[in-house]
Amino acid sequence: MESIRSFLVCSGLFLAIAMILCLKGKNLGRRTKKLPPGPPGWPIIGNIFDLGTEPHRALQELKLKYGPVLRLRLGSMDTVVIQSAKAAAQLLKNHDASFCDRKPLDVFTCHNYRDGSLAVGRFSPYWRTVRRLCSVEMMTVKRINDTASIRRKCIDQMIRNIEDDTQLQMQGRVRETTSAATEWAMAELLRKPEAMRKVKEELNEVVGENRNVEESDIEKLPYLQAVVKEALRLHPSVPLLVPKNTMQDTNFMGYHIAKDTQVFVNAWAIGRDPDSWEDPLTFKPERFLGSNIDYKGQNFELIPFGSGRRICIGMLLAQRVLLLSLASLIHCFDWELDKDSTPEILDMREKIGMSVKKLVPLNVIPKRRSKMMAD
Ligand code: HEM
Repeated sequence: MESIRSFLVCSGLFLAIAMILCLKGKNLGRRTKKLPPGPPGWPIIGNIFDLGTEPHRALQELKLKYGPVLRLRLGSMDTVVIQSAKAAAQLLKNHDASFCDRKPLDVFTCHNYRDGSLAVGRFSPYWRTVRRLCSVEMMTVKRINDTASIRRKCIDQMIRNIEDDTQLQMQGRVRETTSAATEWAMAELLRKPEAMRKVKEELNEVVGENRNVEESDIEKLPYLQAVVKEALRLHPSVPLLVPKNTMQDTNFMGYHIAKDTQVFVNAWAIGRDPDSWEDPLTFKPERFLGSNIDYKGQNFELIPFGSGRRICIGMLLAQRVLLLSLASLIHCFDWELDKDSTPEILDMREKIGMSVKKLVPLNVIPKRRSKMMAD
């Protein structure tokens, strides 16, 4: 009995010493390589509590102390956060091949769901085939043009729903009929009546008062396009993009980034970076007039859809829907804030979920403009 107990104690001690040596060896290996700077973390949980309820804002604050390439540990996950246009360009342009994998999340592993998912699937031959199929067969300009009538019907229905609400003397809730991005754009326009007036003037000039906006009008509406860019700059729906994962050890801007590190790109902080944008917190669509800056993945100061191999595959479609729904809402109705709100005090706080929405839904009163019909 005594000898069994001694054996167990000795094996336990041996295992503990082996584990300590192993961890020390790993840390020693890391210490010889230059890692990105970052705040110290707690044992086991690491930096999870540094992120708070609005991670994109907390990370932006950490940038002030640690710079645009930040290292964190979230539980057992080594994590790197990219927070400037220059670092994002390095990552998504020059090192995209090393960073375009996704970390398999346990929640997606049931029924092998993740293997079939374009958004969270690993960078594999299967993913490449599905992505190519979607880009070549579904998300082409031609296919999107072919489905314009379906979107037209949805927009007409949206307008009819808002009209019905108005007839019942109810307040129209933009949130229920269109996406978070449209809601942010409307909120910004209601805070800036001068910009709203310019969108209306442009619509009146190009579309006129007797018909609805069509997708074919959009290219003739540069101010509206600038409004959507500006809204996506300040309010990217997916502020940290979809996390990427390193496929191999990589030397990134002089830092060692180990294989299997999770990488966030803070598109929200990049869109508000004073190094990239003049007067970054002001909603000013004019900044895009006469400028080539776009959100299609080539200008790294504006990346609400990401960039590189993992860029949003639905970007073209999202762009159409966003522009058409915003144009239709403004062209068909005059919008007023409810009596308790003014442009100066409109609540712009955020609520984090799958996308970032307004915490307090936009409560606005639509007034049908005279001549146009919903169908
Ligand atoms: C305003 C609307 C939208 C925004 C802001 C948005 C944004 C994004 C972002 C930031 C990513 C990750 C990019 C990266 O990892 O670098 C993404 C990926 C993706 N999006 Fe979107 N998206 C929108 C609409 C759509 C629509 C309408 C669809 C489908 C029709 C779509 C399908 C996808 C898919 C499948 C991926 C994963 C791509 C991959 O990992 O290869 N998105 N989107």
